[in-house]
Amino acid sequence: MTTPVNVTVTGAAGQIGYALLFRIASGAMLGPDTPVRLKLLEIPQAVKAAEGTAMELDDCAFPLLAGVDIYDDPTQGFAGTNVALLVGARPRGAGMERADLLEANGGIFAPQGKAINDGAADDVRVLVVGNPANTNALIAASNAPDVPKERFTAMTRLDHNRALSQVAKKAGVPVSEVRRVTIWGNHSASQYPDLFHAEVGGRPGADLAADTAWLTGEFIPTVAKRGAAIIEARGASSAASAANAAIDHVRDWVLGTPEGDWTSAGLWSTGAYGVPEGLVSSFPVTSSGGDWQLVEGLEIDDFSRARIDASVAELAEEREAVRSLGLV
Ligand code: NAI
Repeated sequence: MTTPVNVTVTGAAGQIGYALLFRIASGAMLGPDTPVRLKLLEIPQAVKAAEGTAMELDDCAFPLLAGVDIYDDPTQGFAGTNVALLVGARPRGAGMERADLLEANGGIFAPQGKAINDGAADDVRVLVVGNPANTNALIAASNAPDVPKERFTAMTRLDHNRALSQVAKKAGVPVSEVRRVTIWGNHSASQYPDLFHAEVGGRPGADLAADTAWLTGEFIPTVAKRGAAIIEARGASSAASAANAAIDHVRDWVLGTPEGDWTSAGLWSTGAYGVPEGLVSSFPVTSSGGDWQLVEGLEIDDFSRARIDASVAELAEEREAVRSLGLV
């Protein structure tokens, strides 16, 4: 049997964890030929709940699941890990200022970054889901100086998938006929879903985007505020779709993106598209051979430029805030 891939999931007892672990164990993330060993990392108070989830994983008798271990210590939780999904984060409490939120999350993602640096496998790939995802990824990467920066990514795949679905509905085509949509910037309300390079039912996405009333009045705000709309409707935040997006992100990273298409991921900027170096910002990307490649050379018009710049400015502010806290 092939050696199992070690997959660490933090926040394993949470909502997303519950929607994520069973799909990883079923082979949906790494493919039907790759056994996985799950390493669940939780805070001590949630270890018992994680044990319950582990019992259910046992009860599924997944042929690909080589084992489940539960930890409350990041050093053990990340030891030898190949794929790390950082889902657990500190939510914004009532009356909590942004600086407090960033500091509380720094207290999680800085030590996790260090533990990944010191103990993860050489090929470790990290996806940060817990919010504020981009800046949490920046904190983790900054605390892992020996791991290449491109191995730390933030999840904007849920935004990407939301955009695909909204466009498909508008155009009356199946989602499979929507390609090359891009999410730029931060996973926040400032993100910019870009249709100008897309292909929708064989036609240029720019044709749809020419309807500016729909673009700015419906499409962009619907995608950017979808998370809040789901909380309003469901009484709980999006967990199954977030877990699905995490599966999509890692699967495409490891197994490759389809020919002729691209996806969106938060990556450590090297300065492309005017995004300052060292911000973790969402870009259009393809993947092959287990590495992301930035889609280069897209023309960015004034409309898109202003929106990308606004979201990137928010990321730069978040970086300043965590810098002043000594977290990066
Ligand atoms: P949840 O509150 O149900 O679960 C979070 C879990 O993380 C809890 O079990 C908690 O005990 C655990 N946790 C907290 N600190 C931890 C630490 N230091 N180490 C390990 N585990 C820790 O939350 P849910 O719904 O599962 O969401 C998780 C995160 O994902 C939130 O930050 C949420 O905002 C974010 N999210 C991100 C999305 C994206 O598109 N990037 C989409 C949806 C949610």
